[in-house]
Amino acid sequence: MIVAANWKMNLNLSDGAELVNDLFKGMPQLSDEKQVVIATPFLHLTQTAGQLAGMDHVHLGAQNCHHEAAGAYTGEVSASMLKSAEVKYVIVGHSERRQYNGEDDAMLAKKVNQALANDMQVIFCCGEPLEIRDANTENSYVEAQLKNGLFHLGADHLKNVVIAYEPIWAIGTGRTASSQQAQDMHAHIRTVLATEYGSAVAADMTILYGGSCKPSNAAELFACPDVDGGLIGGASLKADEFLGIINAMVNA
Ligand code: PGA
Repeated sequence: MIVAANWKMNLNLSDGAELVNDLFKGMPQLSDEKQVVIATPFLHLTQTAGQLAGMDHVHLGAQNCHHEAAGAYTGEVSASMLKSAEVKYVIVGHSERRQYNGEDDAMLAKKVNQALANDMQVIFCCGEPLEIRDANTENSYVEAQLKNGLFHLGADHLKNVVIAYEPIWAIGTGRTASSQQAQDMHAHIRTVLATEYGSAVAADMTILYGGSCKPSNAAELFACPDVDGGLIGGASLKADEFLGIINAMVNA
């Protein structure tokens, strides 16, 4: 299982350093089966990498990478630059980037390739907006996101991908998917993966839930058989809340 923090565009450098220090003070025993990722803004990466050095099972993440390897892309950061900053995980396809930065499936597939080519793990986000959920077409919507963003990969590369299901109507809204809604979609995602890659590959995939996950609902969500942890936005910005979610994973 994995619990991943997504700081989004929050925290200046000193706030970030303090938060990581506070997390260390309360961090429970982690293991190969129970790991933590902290995905910071680019600006924080080298500072946070220094803080995480020597910390077992807590990994540095980035929230994006560019879809090309290098070149005249002012203001952008490439996957190989992230790799050189000790980044282990790259979030690709977050709904906020799809929506506000116009990132489409073809671009996301290229970002996935860039991250994997640089030996990092991908946290690939999928999830439907409210109107799709209300129309009861969320299963086919999410299936298309997975096919278009990931299914060009062979199974040997797919194993370096973590999937995060984040219903858009639950992100930052305080409205969490019920554990049944989360479980149903996670089971659907695993079935879609099994159809394409076989049940052994699908069973090994880590599928995170994201969307207003909090200490108060994490244990119930993580108890679902197909929920393998969480991608945490708002509740990752306060050490006590994020530690509460990490503890829910450790005890799951
Ligand atoms: P949230 O964000 O926990 O604030 O809903 C989750 C995410 O967008 O990764």
